[in-house]
Amino acid sequence: MEDCRIIELIKKTYMDAHKPKTLKHVEAVADTAVWLAGVHHLDHAKTETAALLHDISVILTPQQMYELAIERNMTMDPAEEKYHFLLHQRISKLIALERFGITDPDILNAVECHTTLKKNAGPYDQVVFIADKISWDQEGQPPYYETLKQLAAESLDQSCYFYIRYQFDHNLLLMPHQWIMEAYQELKTRLGM
Ligand SMILES: [Fe+2]
Ligand SMILES: [Fe+2]
Repeated sequence: MEDCRIIELIKKTYMDAHKPKTLKHVEAVADTAVWLAGVHHLDHAKTETAALLHDISVILTPQQMYELAIERNMTMDPAEEKYHFLLHQRISKLIALERFGITDPDILNAVECHTTLKKNAGPYDQVVFIADKISWDQEGQPPYYETLKQLAAESLDQSCYFYIRYQFDHNLLLMPHQWIMEAYQELKTRLGM
């Protein structure tokens, strides 16, 4: 499918599911992600598609996501068992693959770890992760906004490390998912922090 056709289809899917607020959020994330893609020399179309799809599982309820995860024999993190909405990143990947026919691993991986990141994350994973945090889905600007935006333009590794550390330092995570703990340790070691 052509890129512009996929983009229209993604947007229509949010609207058909009566999720205009989420559509507004993913469009804001896509704008930020495309800006970062330019700075870090990544493919614009792939970045935009990943950003627009990252929260597509909003078309399902957390309970439906949980049931789907069980149906597909997905191994669940204890944090996902307790807070089903934490599955939304992995279910978004499933929908991207099965409903939109996306097969590009850069797009699928970026969608899959946009909330928690992963160890050894690639640049597309990092760009969508950071763009989602800069253009968050709550009122106003996040407290880390200026620092994160500035760091993101300089170094994806440093900005991911800063954001995750901020979460841990301020006890902002409900229940840390294994992936975010591993991502943090790996970045910390690699950056010599
Ligand atoms: Fe999300
Ligand atoms: Fe999001």
